[in-house]
Order: sequence, then C-alpha cells, then structure tokens
Amino acid sequence: MGEPVHRELIGRLAAARRPVVFSGAGLSAESGIPTFRGRVDHALWSRHDPQQLASIEGFERAPELVLEWYDWRRGLVVEATPNSAHVALARWQQATLITQNVDDLQERAGADPDRVLHLHGSIMQDRCHATCGWSMPADPDSPRGWHPCPECGARTRPGVVWFGEGLPEETWALATRACSNADLILVIGTSGVVQPAASLVELAAASGAYVVNVNPEATPLDSMADTCLHSAAGEVLPELLPD
Ligand code: APR
Repeated sequence: MGEPVHRELIGRLAAARRPVVFSGAGLSAESGIPTFRGRVDHALWSRHDPQQLASIEGFERAPELVLEWYDWRRGLVVEATPNSAHVALARWQQATLITQNVDDLQERAGADPDRVLHLHGSIMQDRCHATCGWSMPADPDSPRGWHPCPECGARTRPGVVWFGEGLPEETWALATRACSNADLILVIGTSGVVQPAASLVELAAASGAYVVNVNPEATPLDSMADTCLHSAAGEVLPELLPD
C-alpha cells in the first residue's frame, strides 16, 4: 500500500470529524463467519432460503430448525476471534460503527459498545417472541431448544431482526442521525441489497459525506462511492485507519 489514492484517503479518514462506518457480513468474513451472499460457496444463502430460517413465518413453521440454525451460527461467533479490520475499527474512536452484523466481534475487539449500532440485533441476545419485551444475553453453553419466556411464557428466540420485521427504533434513529451529519462514510463488506439498512449510504452521500466502499466484489454501492477499494477489509483497514 502507499499508492497516491491510499495516501490521500488516509489523510481524509484521519481528518474526518463525524465519520460513520456502515458494515456487513464481509467485515467478519476473515474471522470465519460465513457471509450471506457473494461468490463464496459457503455463503449462507447459497444453501438456505433466508425466508425459511430468518423470518417469523419460518420460525413459527419450524421453530426447532430455526433455533438449531441460530445455535450453529452462535457457536461460530463464540469460536471466532476479531480480525484485523475489527481491531482497526475499534481503535477509530471518532467513528460511529453502524453494522448489519449480529456478531459481537467489534465489541470483543475493544470497540465501545455505545459506538456500535446493531441495526439487525444481536445473535448473542435471547428475546421473547411475543411483545412483553423480555431480553437477556444468551448463555452460549445452555442447551438450546424452546425455553418459555420467563415473563409471559411465550416462545423465546435469538435477538436478531428477521425479514419482514422492523429495525430497533432507537438504533435506527441514532443511525440515521449519524449518517445525516456524517462528513465521511466508510462502507465495509456489504452487498448493499437489504433495505432499509442500505439506504443509510445514500442518506450519508446526500448529506455531503465522502463515500468509501471496501469490498473485494463490485456492488450497487460502488456507484455512490467517491473511492472504491476492491480489497478485503482485513487487508486494507489496518493501514487506512488512524491509530
Ligand atoms: N472484506 C470485505 N468485504 C468482503 C469480504 C472481506 N474479507 N469477504 C466478503 N466480502 C463482501 C462480499 O463481496 C459481499 O459483497 O461482503 C459482502 C457480504 O454481503 P452479504 O453476504 O449480502 O451480507 P450483508 O450485506 O451484510 O447482508 C445484509 O442480509 O441476510 C441479511 O440480515 C442479513 O444483515 C444481513 C443482510
């Protein structure tokens, strides 16, 4: 690294006063967590129908199958270690870290949890499937299967947002405010196809933010980017981001 575009970009990232990061599954790929789409053959949705496993209908039709799938994914997260991109982001104290990811690798890399906005919830949380609001950190060692909600007796499930469900309101409000005020948005490892999350990039761009997209593959977000780095996050972020 060191080509002129990177030197200029390093300067921009260091000078950004209100930077935001918008990340997807690609940020955790180098930690061994499968992405959902993309060319790699172990992408989750290449073998599963997302509607079967990550939707209310799928859960109500086959709760044990869905809980087993999330149990497997939770195990991958527990076994994984943060990669160099997570560590570089954790050091970037100036940035608001908006993520579609449900893993806790950014926090485990040292990021202040108050700076990490999980738009799609957390796989490390359990919550009530009904409306009582019960939620608590999941115990990765506890046997899965259906545990009635301690508050209301309804089914419990992972604390993630499923297709067709709304995003957590407060988190969404914080994310949209950060993107409306951003002077730079660093997009990392997302196919940019899931809404409303992906609309945050457009919001930041429309608010005058400089847009950087880091992804080995071309995506629809490239057309909005001022700089596209077709590289792996773990490869470029440690040198791009301020210490
Ligand atoms: N560094 C950067 N990007 C990478 C890397 C890497 N090492 N490896 C893969 N990628 C890119 C892929 O090229 C792909 O464009 O990461 C992107 C991952 O895209 P998706 O698998 O679609 O994940 P994401 O964009 O986060 O999906 C959004 O869809 O299924 C839902 O709720 C789920 O939050 C998820 C949402």
